[in-house]
Formats: sequence, structure tokens, C-alpha cells
Amino acid sequence: MDLSGKHIVLGLTGGIACYKAAELCRALIKQGATVQVVMTDAAAQFITPVTMQALSNRTVYDSQWDARERNNMPHINLSREADAILIAPCSADFMAKLLHGRADDLLSLMCLARPIGAVPLLIAPAMNREMWAHPATQRNLAQLRSDGTHVLGVGNGDQACGEMGDGRMLEPDELLEEVIAFFQPKLLVGHKVVVTAGPTFEAIDPVRGITNLSSGKMGFAIARAAHEAGAEVRLIAGPVALIAPRGVTRLDVRSALDMHAAAVDCAQQSTIFVATAAVADWRPATTSDQKLKKDSAGTTPRLEFVENPDILAEVASSERAARGALYCVGFAAESHDLLAHATAKRLRKNVPLLVGNIGPATFGQDDNALLLVDAQGATELPRNTKLELARQLVAEIAKRLPSH
Ligand code: CTP
Repeated sequence: MDLSGKHIVLGLTGGIACYKAAELCRALIKQGATVQVVMTDAAAQFITPVTMQALSNRTVYDSQWDARERNNMPHINLSREADAILIAPCSADFMAKLLHGRADDLLSLMCLARPIGAVPLLIAPAMNREMWAHPATQRNLAQLRSDGTHVLGVGNGDQACGEMGDGRMLEPDELLEEVIAFFQPKLLVGHKVVVTAGPTFEAIDPVRGITNLSSGKMGFAIARAAHEAGAEVRLIAGPVALIAPRGVTRLDVRSALDMHAAAVDCAQQSTIFVATAAVADWRPATTSDQKLKKDSAGTTPRLEFVENPDILAEVASSERAARGALYCVGFAAESHDLLAHATAKRLRKNVPLLVGNIGPATFGQDDNALLLVDAQGATELPRNTKLELARQLVAEIAKRLPSH
């Protein structure tokens, strides 16, 4: 569970998005966090403290005069216990209050009283699009950011008022991903990471082609972990049915040649290149622009193949990689003799780090086991979820970067 041991004070302010806070509360708890809900009077107009108490399994705080606290200082006690305060939804009015350091209700008082260096404040704004776009709100946002508040951004789409635009609160699953990312160590700040992921599809004709069983899950997990670690991430994805991690720029490609062009281009501005894609080794020498049809004589088509470029080997032999500005990581999906094949592949591809895994055992699964091979030898990362392994791999990459 990604939030085990974390205690989060979840603050609700007045807005229709309060209904999403119920789901968010559950999601945080499911990931192992304990959640203490604090509500403003306006929030209680939208959702009852009873609902939030039942979901969080703790009585809700809504007044600074709460007699349950022996010292009568809930603003001090609640903020000292927290690993983070998350205001979701955060109304335009509450942002303005935070900005001015006003403290006329328990939630704003608690935010002001929190130890600023030890208890981070995250806000998930939620409001009508005109309120969001208003210069006052945008000015407040900029100032809150520079005061150290972590602003989680807003969604775009239909609004409760019937209008459409920016200002919706992010969905509970998106907020959860943001909160989890917030707590991850920032090992790759300032880095630009490119990840290739998934299979490629080599067309035979407009409706047929050759592909493989790679699901793209490991590559998507690495993209997410690199983003969580503070890097700017581009994910070059072959045809897969996965949703890109939040904050990651996705480039969809189909064939090995498309992936090659995108990867070579992106690698020129990057500092880390991770090749997890199962790139087709060969493509049909010719592609028919019309669907191949059966004939009455039962003739079967004869396919000729040509070899695809080796994307990783090419990027790893670029001038950028040679002068140490680009750190390249390869993957090897093998069926047997993992250490021997991974060691040989590392040398053949000329990469500092090669990650071996048993392909048939991991394709499509949510877990994996990795064997890291570098010039010093081999390191095992035992079976775990792909996301957890991706985080461990990011930490291993960070350790090996030239500046470290
Ligand atoms: N790779 C690549 N471009 C290719 C083939 C492979 O970038 N045309 C990358 C993969 O993304 C992976 C690494 O090279 O990081 C190894 O891929 P793999 O398919 O295991 O190796 P191959 O070079 O195809 O060798 P073989 O099929 O003989 O095992």
C-alpha cells in the first residue's frame, strides 16, 4: 500500500465537489493512510459530517471550540499529527483565505498554525470556470505556490453549473495518484526521461500485421515512477490499451520505424533513456495498401522480412550518450539463462545498465522480478508489483547517474 503509515488531514471546503471527497477519503484509506476529516460550515452544506465520519472511522472536526480536545486547541493538535494537509475541494474563497493568512474557522486556523517546514499543504481547487479564470484567483494561485503550497491543478469538462471549462476538481483516483506521487523521494529532479513501452505493430496490409504479447505495463510503471521522482517524462508507447500516468507526456506510435523516429528525436533532449518496448525485430519487406484476398486456388501469401533498426543500440551509441549526457537503460525479455543473456546483451547494446526479466512469466502480469546487470555485476530485485519494481529501478538508476 502506497500510503502506509501516512496520516492525512483531509479538509473540505464549500463546493459541490464535496461529493468526490467521500470517494477520495475511501481511496486514501485503501492505500493505507489514516484520514482525519476537518470541514468548514460551507462544506457541511454539501455533504454531512456523518458520511465523512463513517468513511474515515473518526469523528469529524468542524469547530475551533471543540470541547473534545483537553487543551481546546484542535488547530494545534490536528496539524501536529499530520504528514500532510490536503484540502479537497478547495474553494476560491478558501484559497483567498489561505493567501491572507486568515484564521476565522478551524480549517484555516489549522493551516496557518501548521509547522510550515514539516507539514506540507496540498490543495485541490474546485470552482466554476469563470471563478477559476478570474485574475484574482490566478493571482492567488501564483502567490500560494510561491508560499510553498502544493497546488494539484484542476480538471476540464462539464461543470455542475452546466458550463464547460477548467475548474472542476480532479477525480478521486487522479487526486490519489497525485498524493502518492507527492510522498515519493524526488531522486530525478531536473532530469528528462524518455521511456519506450509496449509492442510495435508491423503492418502486412490495412487490416493485418505482426505484433507481440508485450502489455506495456512495465514501461508505463517506469514512466510513472520517474514522474513521481520529479523528472519530466515522455512515454513513447506502441499500441496498448493503458492509460498514461498523470503528468507524463505520451507519444503514441505503431511501427518500429515510428518508434525509432520518435525515440531518436526525444533522446536528443533527454538525460535518461529507458527502452522497455518489445520492438519487432523484423517487418514485412512490403506492405500492401489493399487488403490481401484469398483466391480460389488457395494460394498462401509469402512474406519477406527486413530487419528493423535497433533503437536502443542506436541511441546508446549517439554522441550525447558517448559524452555522458544521456544514461541508457535496456531491458531483456528472455525465456532462460537470464544472467548470461542479459550480460551479453548489455555489452552488445553498449548500455551501462541492462535489466533482465523472464518474458513469458511477466507479459501482461502486474508483477515481475528483475535482474539488474551493470559493469559491477548483477543485482536482483525480487518479485513485486511492476510499480514497486519501477520505483526501485528509478532509485538504482539515480544511484548510477554520473553526477551522483
Ligand atoms: N530494442 C530496441 N530496438 C529493437 C530491438 C530491441 O530498442 N529493434 C531494445 C528493447 O527495447 C530492449 C533491448 O533492446 O530494451 C533488448 O530487446 P530484446 O528484444 O530482448 O533484444 P534483441 O536485440 O531483440 O535480441 P534477441 O531478440 O536476440 O534476444
